[in-house]
Order: sequence, then C-alpha cells, then structure tokens
Amino acid sequence: MSTAFLSNRVLGIEPSPSIAANALVTELRALGRDIVNFTVGEPDFDTPEHILHAASAAMHSGDTHYTATTGTLALRKAICQKLERDNGLTYGLDEVVAGCGGKHIIYHALAATLNLGDEVIVHTPYWVSYPDIARLNDATPVIIPGDETNGFKLSPEALEKSITPRSKWVILNTPNNPSGAVYNETELLALAAVLRKHPHVLIMADEIYEQFVYGDALHVSLTRLAPDLKARTLIVNGASKGYAMTGWRLGFGAGPAWLIAAIGKLLSQTTTCPSSISQAAAVAAFVGDQAPIAGMREIYQHRRDRMLELLTPITGLSFTPPDGAFYVFANVSALMGKTTQSGDVIQNDSELVAHLLKEHGLATVSGAAYGMSPYIRLSFASSLDVIEEGCRRLKEACQQLR
Ligand SMILES: Cc1ncc(COP(=O)(O)O)c(C=O)c1O
Repeated sequence: MSTAFLSNRVLGIEPSPSIAANALVTELRALGRDIVNFTVGEPDFDTPEHILHAASAAMHSGDTHYTATTGTLALRKAICQKLERDNGLTYGLDEVVAGCGGKHIIYHALAATLNLGDEVIVHTPYWVSYPDIARLNDATPVIIPGDETNGFKLSPEALEKSITPRSKWVILNTPNNPSGAVYNETELLALAAVLRKHPHVLIMADEIYEQFVYGDALHVSLTRLAPDLKARTLIVNGASKGYAMTGWRLGFGAGPAWLIAAIGKLLSQTTTCPSSISQAAAVAAFVGDQAPIAGMREIYQHRRDRMLELLTPITGLSFTPPDGAFYVFANVSALMGKTTQSGDVIQNDSELVAHLLKEHGLATVSGAAYGMSPYIRLSFASSLDVIEEGCRRLKEACQQLR
C-alpha cells in the first residue's frame, strides 16, 4: 500500500519502540528462539482477585452499556477518594476524567490544548510516547538533555532555560520510566518555584508508577507541595501499573474543570467511554483492599535489589540505582567501540541491543528510544529466575566484547 494515502501526522511519528521491542520478543519466541525478556513494561502479576470479582459482578448485573463519557459516577468518586487518600489532594467530580489508559488521557489532554507551533517540554530520558504524542498534535517537543550525575532529574535551571512564550506544557514523570528517578520534596519545590513564574505553562504530572518506590524514597505529588499550581496541572495516573491492570485499559486525569471538560468533549467524539467492565473493576482497585499493592511493591523491591546485585560485577556497565518504577537504566558507554566475536564494532546502544538479542537471546530496549544514549533499559518486572538468567547472559555478553 502506498504511503501516499497516509497522513503527514502518521508519517511523522514512529511506532512505540518499547511496544515494538516486546513484539519482536513474541515473534522470535514463536520461531522457537530462547529469549530472556528484559523489555517488559508492565507488571507480570495477575490482577488481584477482588478486582476480578468486581468486574464479573458488573458484567452479570448488566453494567454492559455506554457510560458517561468521563466515567461513571462511582468511578469518578473512587478516583477522588484515591487522590485524597494517597496524594492528599481534593478534587471535585468535574475535575476528574477516566480514559482507556494513562496514554489515552495524555493524548486527549494534548489534543485538547495544542495548536501548531506550541511547544511541549520533555526531558530525557523520557517515556517513549511523549514527544510523538506532542508531534501528533502539531506541537514541537522541546527536549531537555538529562544528566546522570544529577540522578537523571530535571534541574530548575534547565527547566527555566527551556521555557519560551510558546511553551504550552511541561511533562514531569515521577517515579520515572525509564530512569527510576523519584523526585523528593526539595526537588519538586525547586521546579515549582520556576513554574510559578510562568503562568502560561500547563503542567502534566505523570504519576503512573506512584506505587512503586523503594527504600527511603517517597512519592509526593507536585501540587500537594505547590497547591497554587493545581489550577494548571493535570495529574495522569491509572490502574495499569499499580494494580496490575494494563490490559483493562483504565487510566485517569485530574485537573481543572475547564481542561477536564475539554478532554471529555474530545472523548465523546473518539472513544465515548472506557469499557464499563473495566470501570467497575477500577472502582474496586482504587477504593478496595490495598494490601495486594503493598505485596507487589515488596516483591519488586526484592527483584530490584537482586538485579542490582547481579549487575554490579559486570564490567562495562554501570548504573544509578532506581528509586522507583521497575527498570534499571544502565549506562553502557564503556562498551561503545568494542568488537563482538564476529568482528562487528558496537557503535551505539541500538547496535548493542541488536547484538544482545541476536547473539545472546537477551531482549532490552536502547537508551535511544528514551532520547538518551548510550544506555539500555532493563526491566525487573519478571520472576527472579528470569532476572538471574538475563543478568547471566548480559555478563557473558559483556565479557566477550573486546
Ligand atoms: C511513564 C508512563 N506513563 C504513562 C504510561 C501509560 O500507561 P497506560 O496507558 O497503560 O495506563 C506508561 C506505560 O508504559 C508509562 O510508562
């Protein structure tokens, strides 16, 4: 089929690299290859039982129809309760909106606000979809280069420098995918001080990994610390990661009523509403028993600790320990320019990723996908056995490079 039929909008973006990496693993496994998958971007746990029950009950009691565009009243109430309980934030029912995943909310929020020439500020390493969703909506992503010595965190100075009269949004993601950085109160207050000076900028606070913080790290919402910014901040969160519900496609946004209404207007012309069954399940997730979430967090912490232990002795690879999410964003600069056993020189992280997959059956995602090289992202959302075997393969691969 000729690309002549395609829109410039679609031609101007790439398929999501993390989804593509995972799809390649499925393809190779179908061909019989033994692949250890470190690309996983979702919990490997099943959705907790009480959430499944709520979905089943909804299905059997006739909750199988269209709902209000922004979500059922029960769901919007549950989202408000969750925000009050976990984040200490008070939102009204007209200040929250449910969508088919956090990504769907991000897309609709940007589509509802961006015009040609607007700028969306994103810093590296960024979640793969932010720049392309901005591009899809006629805006220009303004990329602030990240700095590992700073724990991959956006500094107030870099933020200040990137803001122009055309800036429409700044996207902040804590806990961060892929770096695992979790901003502390001092860091958030410093960013808030900059943002306060620029009232024309909207703030997107992507908190989808909120539940996964380790050690002494704590997740705090920016607007809890800077309530004056609440009127122009959209919190993005959802059931996907924290409640092991990626396939249910249920996310939400919380922000000023004018923005929520605009997102709702757009949703009424795109998806109508999220699945009624998923909405009922999400009510149980957000206001039901939270114990399974704590249990999953503990398991992730254990896996993270083990992965870091296994990565530490590997020559050629270094890392900043992640305080949150479920990834290690490993620095592979010492491996650049090395030669493989078949004589190829590894020039960049994408070539390293291809080599690890082809020669060692280990799937990872390149730092290039997150706008920061040379790095590779290693997911620890898998069993300890998978983590052991993946790290063994990685060690062997690094040892063989000359
Ligand atoms: C940082 C970040 N934000 C948002 C999302 C979207 O999550 P979902 O659409 O599954 O709710 C993801 C998913 O990988 C993510 O990593």
